[in-house]
Amino acid sequence: MQSFENTPDERTKYLLQELVKHLHSYVHTVRLTEAEWNTAIGFLTRVGNITTPHRQEFVLLSDVLGVSMHTVAVNNEVHRNATEATVFGPFFVNGAPLIENGGDMSGGAPGEPAWVEGTIRGVDGEPVPGARIEVWEADAEGFYDVQHEGGRVYGRAHLFADEKSEFRFWGLLPTPYAIAHDGRVGDLLKATERSPYRPAHLHFMVTAPGYRTLVTHVFVRGDEHLDKPTKDAVFGVKDSLIYDWSRHSADEPTPDGRDLQGKPWASLHFDVVLAPGQAVDYAALME
Ligand code: BEZ
Ligand code: FE
Repeated sequence: MQSFENTPDERTKYLLQELVKHLHSYVHTVRLTEAEWNTAIGFLTRVGNITTPHRQEFVLLSDVLGVSMHTVAVNNEVHRNATEATVFGPFFVNGAPLIENGGDMSGGAPGEPAWVEGTIRGVDGEPVPGARIEVWEADAEGFYDVQHEGGRVYGRAHLFADEKSEFRFWGLLPTPYAIAHDGRVGDLLKATERSPYRPAHLHFMVTAPGYRTLVTHVFVRGDEHLDKPTKDAVFGVKDSLIYDWSRHSADEPTPDGRDLQGKPWASLHFDVVLAPGQAVDYAALME
């Protein structure tokens, strides 16, 4: 603790002294053996060895240890009726296509078409016209576009709330998927008999001046992975984010008259409530 006393930056000093305190407390509590210390160093080394600009195994480790979600929690305290935040995940891409309200963000990916509509409001119910909405999701096989070679863009877009603060778009009914588990984090999950699955979800990021940037998902009520004791490999589920997605037969007319060529479809109403605060550039933080 004393060795860090002269750290000029107060916050850095605090972070390092607390880190030492908690790490030492862990070693003391569990009576860490030298063999276990070696195993831990070997594990972290292997996590580092497979980390590349495209595969952040350390972030995934933080995710499955619940550290990412805990960081979300301490930075996004519940604010009255504001929509709760959840984990950002590794699949957001800056510069996703702009779609009009009512447009299609699925990019032709396989899956059941889903009509998503709602409003963006502040905690006092005030409208937030022009709010920027980013949405992204996996296809019916459980893969994001960036997980494939070839650079095809699908399952992601951005749009803006209209003058009445409403938004609407076509996407896909989300399906559950497994996080990358062919690496060291996968070994950890296997050794501890934990599931790599995340329940089905659609990602949202909503930004507007004067409001705290909201990074969240909408989960699908009834998803089998929501029933598991830990629910989600990365602990991102909040009960308030589990929504009913309605299912419609092929012959029910769509809200905008779109012809789905005989396909059944789904729909979701999701009203977003933003907390007052600062916009955060999450995309820049993740670089
Ligand atoms: C995701 O939802 O995209 C995600 C979040 C954390 C780890 C892996 C995937
Ligand atoms: Fe996801």
